[in-house]
Amino acid sequence: MFEQNVLKGHAAFIAGGTSGINRGIAAAFVQAGAQVAVLSRKPEKVEETVEYLRGLNEDAHILGFAADVRDFDSVNDAIRQTAELFGPLDIVVSGAAGLFIAPAEKMSANAFKTVVDIDLLGTFNVLRSAYDHARRPGASFINISAPQASVPYWGQAHACAAKAGVNMLTQSLAFEWGSHGIRVNAIVPGPIDGTEGVKKFSGTPALRRTLMDSVPMGRCGTTEDIANMAIFLASEAAAYMTGEIVRLDGGQVLTGGMTIDPESLVS
Ligand code: NAP
Ligand code: COA
Repeated sequence: MFEQNVLKGHAAFIAGGTSGINRGIAAAFVQAGAQVAVLSRKPEKVEETVEYLRGLNEDAHILGFAADVRDFDSVNDAIRQTAELFGPLDIVVSGAAGLFIAPAEKMSANAFKTVVDIDLLGTFNVLRSAYDHARRPGASFINISAPQASVPYWGQAHACAAKAGVNMLTQSLAFEWGSHGIRVNAIVPGPIDGTEGVKKFSGTPALRRTLMDSVPMGRCGTTEDIANMAIFLASEAAAYMTGEIVRLDGGQVLTGGMTIDPESLVS
């Protein structure tokens, strides 16, 4: 899809890079010639992903860190070590997220805070740490947002609020750091096949059909669809692009999203 070696030698850090969409981005970056570090909580997922990425390109340098994006010091430590080994960071992806479906009146304050802390505070922690170790000028920061940022989804008050915050943080940091030589953009994926996010919305054939009906293109996206956009945003081709919230959803926003029976979704 993209020119091979388009990211040759680039240093990339991917928070939440050990499964789903973010792992797809990590794989594409490795195939495009980048050195890639991934971070997530579970050591076994980190280890397995590092092995997988090494298998994609024997010349690539790959690092893995087990840490929680809610903990600034451990994120900062991982990013500092990555920059020591790879050099100044060219690309930073913030995509760690947590989600469960619960009606707001049954959500505890700590349940709300948990998702906001992972999605929004976690994104600030990653980008704030990365600022000190980024290539300036030239770095590209990419946040992974969600449709919930601009349309309320039932049972997801926490994620809607958090991802709306991620969109505004994207624009705020693009505004402040444009003159420092850092571009900041966000991708809003639609439903992406084979991911945790989509499993939560299409557990039965009826739900799957409703989901498909909500997408004019009639299919879910793939992790490659999102990775191609991440490569574009990371590359010179996007050199004048910052503060953008880029939707990749097969047109789902045009239908108003997925209409569902809320009770079928409570996890
Ligand atoms: P996923 O497979 O669950 O990926 C989430 C990643 O974040 C995992 O690597 C997970 O690994 C890590 N993570 C979770 N909590 C963390 C924490 N506190 N600290 C550090 N790492 C943490 O999810 P996905 O469905 O691919 O979604 C990826 C991103 O795309 C998310 O930002 C999501 O909001 C967005 N998105 C997804 C869809 C979709 O269709 N799936 C649609 C729109 C937007 P550990 O468990 O090891 O921590
Ligand atoms: N319904 C209502 N509340 C829930 C819940 C659910 N299904 N799951 C967790 N909570 C509440 C807990 O009860 C707790 O609140 P309390 O202290 O008032 O009881 C709070 O949320 C924190 O739960 P905890 O299990 O301690 O959080 P965690 O930090 O270990 O896990 C999650 C984070 C809950 C977001 C977890 O689902 C997760 O990490 N998911 C990642 C995978 C994922 O969702 N991927 C898709 C990304 S789009």
